[in-house]
Amino acid sequence: MDNIRSIAIPPLTADLERVLIDADTIQRRVIELAAQINRDYADIEEPLILVGVLKGSFIYLADLCRKLTVPHVIDFIAVSSYGSGSESTGNVRLLMDTRRSLENHHVLIVEDILDTGYTLDYLVRNFKARGTKSVNTTVLLEKPDRHKVPVDLRYVGFTIPDVWVVGYGLDYGEQYRTLPYIAEMRIPN
Ligand code: PRP
Repeated sequence: MDNIRSIAIPPLTADLERVLIDADTIQRRVIELAAQINRDYADIEEPLILVGVLKGSFIYLADLCRKLTVPHVIDFIAVSSYGSGSESTGNVRLLMDTRRSLENHHVLIVEDILDTGYTLDYLVRNFKARGTKSVNTTVLLEKPDRHKVPVDLRYVGFTIPDVWVVGYGLDYGEQYRTLPYIAEMRIPN
């Protein structure tokens, strides 16, 4: 098994500065976060709705939900706030809504990263306005130096410095999303 795993970890390319968080560390943290969520929602009476924010959350969501023992269902939402650049504009647009109604349900928004906070701030306010029973958030990564609006983060994987990161769902021009680790990107000048 060890051999299979080491073969499956792709090496750093020239565009990547270093591995910031390795695959095993991510998996261990996901298990801890899932355990917290299992404890907090142990008494839930109907399934928790996990809403993954496309696209970046899809790998974190897939790993997290498979460690959950509380009843849950999966849904997705797509938003855009970056336009064509790498800076959030703060102008969040809803591109695709959830399939099911969130009214009267407990909702956990699943995100890969909190940067400025505009996306999660928009989603939390939007979901609360729909008559949900509760809205909580989980992010695998957060960059405290970049926050522009305060967001109540319930379950945080890792706090990271203000560097461009890729892997484990995060992309740079749609590349590197499927790396099993988080790497720091070397941004070309
Ligand atoms: C990224 C990330 C979050 C958002 C966080 O999404 O996945 O959704 O930005 O940034 P914020 O805190 O500044 O709002 P992106 O727009 O890159 O789309 P993607 O997930 O499809 O890659």
